[in-house]
Amino acid sequence: MNLYSSLARPLLFRLSPEVAHHLTITSLRVPLTSRLLSLGKKTPSDPITLMNLPFRNRLGIAAGLDKNAEAPLAWRSLGFGFAELGTITLHPQPGNPKPRVFRYPQQQALINRLGFPNLGAEAIATRLRHLRERHTLHDFPIGINLGKSKVTPLEQAPLDYLGSLKLLQPLGDFFVVNISSPNTPGLRDLAKPDDLRRLLSTLQDFNRSCPKTKPLLLKISPDLAISDLPELVAATKEFELAGIVATNTTIQREAKEPNETGGLSGRPLTARALSLMHVLRPLLAKEQILVGVGGVMNSNDYQTRRAAGADLVQIYTGMVYLGPHAAWEILKTP
Ligand SMILES: Cc1cc2nc3c(=O)[nH]c(=O)nc-3n(C[C@H](O)[C@H](O)[C@H](O)COP(=O)(O)O)c2cc1C
Repeated sequence: MNLYSSLARPLLFRLSPEVAHHLTITSLRVPLTSRLLSLGKKTPSDPITLMNLPFRNRLGIAAGLDKNAEAPLAWRSLGFGFAELGTITLHPQPGNPKPRVFRYPQQQALINRLGFPNLGAEAIATRLRHLRERHTLHDFPIGINLGKSKVTPLEQAPLDYLGSLKLLQPLGDFFVVNISSPNTPGLRDLAKPDDLRRLLSTLQDFNRSCPKTKPLLLKISPDLAISDLPELVAATKEFELAGIVATNTTIQREAKEPNETGGLSGRPLTARALSLMHVLRPLLAKEQILVGVGGVMNSNDYQTRRAAGADLVQIYTGMVYLGPHAAWEILKTP
């Protein structure tokens, strides 16, 4: 038992998940909060260069936790090696009606159907520009996760993602193309080979025309058929993507799993996300990286994901259940 599980978590869990999240992010925007929370702690150090970027360790914040790029410095203070911000869409949007996030403490799970609420690419670009002007985030890469605006028809998805990339390209260290969230109607259809090729070629053509080409990765769903993966990986090779982020939340449910509509994350996802690692690693090119995410809830899960071939590992739900010392607990650093 630590102070988070004995005191802070029970208090936060009395609030609705979204209110608790808002409160947490708001307090982490104050630099003193994360400095106090990390007092006496050593930065977990396991330096590695991947995608030509220096990472001080391999554990990062998964997309969705900091959708509007509010607290990148806090994630660094809390011991993480990198953060993936977003999902960011070209147009600002409110997301789906509330309630839209549900907690299942006994199963160490969450279900969400947020639908990408965010301030939009332009406002977040302004925020990131200020951050870059004031801080050199040396050895703490910032990834930016891009999604489709709800108002944009699926046929125009490539131009919508491109609009965001144009605004954000100079501001991220790497970019993640999200075609896997279950809460934007039709988004997962973008994994169909022809649509995927059109999307990736549009983004990579622009990316290559920029003064500095940034690594692009693809974030995939755990609900894809295993038989679809070879063609999907082939597309990532054809357009020279730096790697794959696996996985997003699942819409599948086993008999005893919580049955709210939305994407399920946390412990029930561990085995499914892990099994995809074993399929993906041999399909990927040697230079492509694999980011393992989904149900990493403790140090053992982290080690297992690494052993299955994950170059980097991310958490979201684990952060909710473990609290601000998650990075130290998972990386076993005092
Ligand atoms: C409340 C919530 C919001 C999320 N929002 C996003 C998002 O905006 N974009 C995205 O790519 N993934 C999003 N995710 C998925 C996570 O990034 C991650 O892929 C998934 O939750 C599995 O990891 P976990 O079991 O550690 O939570 C979200 C997850 C949760 C729980």
